[in-house]
Amino acid sequence: MAVLMRIGLALAGMIFSCVFADRGLQLKSSSGDEVRGCYVYNQTLAVCFNVQKDAIVILKTTGERLVQYYNLGPDMFYYQVMDQSFIARGPSMFFVPDEVSREPESLRAFAKDQYENEETVRHHFQAAVSELHYVPEVRLLELVSAALADNTTRLEILQPFHTLCLNLLQQAEIKIPPELSAEHGMEDDNADTHDREERCSRPQRNRCRGMCGLGCNCWKWICGDCCWHLGCYQHDLCCNYSRFSTYCLFPYSYNLSCSKGFGGYKKCRRMGWR
Ligand SMILES: *[C@@H]1O[C@H](CO)[C@@H](O)[C@H](O)[C@H]1NC(C)=O
Ligand SMILES: *[C@@H]1O[C@H](CO)[C@@H](O)[C@H](O)[C@H]1NC(C)=O
Ligand SMILES: *[C@@H]1O[C@H](CO)[C@@H](O)[C@H](O)[C@H]1NC(C)=O
Ligand SMILES: *[C@@H]1O[C@H](CO)[C@@H](O)[C@H](O)[C@H]1NC(C)=O
Repeated sequence: MAVLMRIGLALAGMIFSCVFADRGLQLKSSSGDEVRGCYVYNQTLAVCFNVQKDAIVILKTTGERLVQYYNLGPDMFYYQVMDQSFIARGPSMFFVPDEVSREPESLRAFAKDQYENEETVRHHFQAAVSELHYVPEVRLLELVSAALADNTTRLEILQPFHTLCLNLLQQAEIKIPPELSAEHGMEDDNADTHDREERCSRPQRNRCRGMCGLGCNCWKWICGDCCWHLGCYQHDLCCNYSRFSTYCLFPYSYNLSCSKGFGGYKKCRRMGWR
């Protein structure tokens, strides 16, 4: 029997609803400006998303937001994970306390006279990802990312979404159970390890950094194959130096190229260990 779900999502004051008769990826909209839909794994497990050029939201089917990210103006982003909100201004992150209204105007005004408090950001970020760790829907993010790459002819606006999913899974230290892993799409590459070693310079060294994926599992839809890529390697190192910096969290703001490298790398390194 078909799974039938009615899902209401609220975004920017607009309510829209999807009715699902199937499992897998359900796209409501897919263009260069917006990719919106849900991924239905089974009757109880599904996750929805809305990706635009300057805004991403990942929701439960109840409409509860897990992650939200949007552009607040020049060099400024709003970033929310579970109930914790942050503003990224330039390379710095600020924690946004509950009493600050979530209106763009108030957020911009709040960010204007903030000084970075690394300890506070770290504390709240850690709290957010620890909570995210136990949210079942998050375990679908690899499948979602893979399905979108398969089904949307590599739309440019999806690149930040893929990295966001990867970062969230990494930071929340989520181990994806085999049935929810997108690995089926990578069997071909993984089976032929000999060929892979011939073609790839060093996929297994350095804890598999540079493989553009979760640990030693690669997301080949990010750079096209399962080899070592300078851009991914530098981004991985950056996240190791300073995982709460905007360089790690929003690498596409700083030019991320698979082959030419990561534009934020030097500045990220200069921030030092955290
Ligand atoms: C849906 O899948 C999850 C993960 O495999 C599982 O825990 C859950 O029991 C499934 N629900 C149903 C209704 O099959
Ligand atoms: C892509 O979409 C097609 C048709 O909707 C579906 O059959 C296929 O499973 C999707 N691919 C993935 C990886 O979900
Ligand atoms: C960074 O790398 C070091 C050395 O490889 C490792 O011990 C540490 O756990 C890493 N830290 C993070 C946040 O990944
Ligand atoms: C990204 O690269 C383009 C062209 O290579 C350059 O014009 C742009 O200034 C770069 N952006 C950043 C933020 O480095």
